[in-house]
Amino acid sequence: MTAKPTVLQELPADLNQERLPRHVAVIMDGNGRWAKRQGLPRIMGHRRGVDVLKDLLRCCRDWGIKALTAYAFSTENWGRPLEEVNFLMTLFERVLRQELREMMQEDVQIHFVGNLSALPRTLHAEIERSVDETRHNQGIQFTVATNYGGRQEILQACRAIAVQVQQGLIQPEQIDEALFERHLYTAGICDPDLLIRTSGEMRLSNFLLWQVAYSELYITETLWPDFDRAEFHRALSAYQQRDRRFGKV
Ligand code: FPP
Repeated sequence: MTAKPTVLQELPADLNQERLPRHVAVIMDGNGRWAKRQGLPRIMGHRRGVDVLKDLLRCCRDWGIKALTAYAFSTENWGRPLEEVNFLMTLFERVLRQELREMMQEDVQIHFVGNLSALPRTLHAEIERSVDETRHNQGIQFTVATNYGGRQEILQACRAIAVQVQQGLIQPEQIDEALFERHLYTAGICDPDLLIRTSGEMRLSNFLLWQVAYSELYITETLWPDFDRAEFHRALSAYQQRDRRFGKV
C-alpha cells in the first residue's frame, strides 16, 4: 500500500517563504483508527503512517523547512499489546535500513531523542549507523522521538546537572535555560515553531514538554495516514495567520 501520489511539489504561492516555521513537530495519531475504518489490522495503519511521514519529510525539504521532529514511540507505548510493540520495533529498524541511501541522496541529517539504550539491540545499532552516516548532511534535520517521554527527558537532565553540582563543577546559580537545554536530548536542535497533532486529540501526551513552551499548536481531525500535503498546507496557512508574541504585547 502506498501513500497518495505527491502533489503540491513546490511551496504554495499563498504561503510566505519568509514566515515559514523553521521547525515543525508532529504527533502522528490515528493510525489504529484509520486501519479499523478500512477493516484492516492496526499495524497496517502504522505501515501507511511511514509513507505519510516520508512524504512530509520530503515536503518540508521541498518547501524550505529546516527541521522536522516526529513522535514515533512514547515511553508509555510499551503498554500496547506485545505484538504491536514488536511490529513497531521491527518496522523502525526496517525503515531505517531501507531509507538510509535515500536520506543520503536527499541530504537528510537524522537524530533520535529518547531513552535509546532500552531499545532492541539491533534497532539501536541501526539508529547509531544512520545518525553517524548522515551527520554531515545539511538539507533538513529529521528527529525521531523513540522511547521518548518529556518528563523523563527533564528528569535525566536534572540528574546530570545535580551530579555536576555535587562534584563542584557548577554552582546552582549557574543553572539557567541555556545550560538546562544543553542537557536535554534535543541539545543543538531549535525548539519547534509549530506542533501538529492529528486525529483531533487535544493533548501533548508527554511530547517535548520543555521545547513546546512557545510553539503554535495545530490540531486537525484528519487521521495521520490521511495527512497529506494539502493538509500540511492548511496547517502552515493557519500558522502564518498567528500572531506570535512570546509573552509580549
Ligand atoms: C499513533 O497512532 C502512532 C504510533 C504510536 C506510531 C507512529 C509510528 C509511525 C507512523 C512509524 C514511524 C516510523 C519511523 C521509522 C520514524 P495510534 O496507534 O495511537 O492510533 P489510534 O489512536 O487510532 O489507536
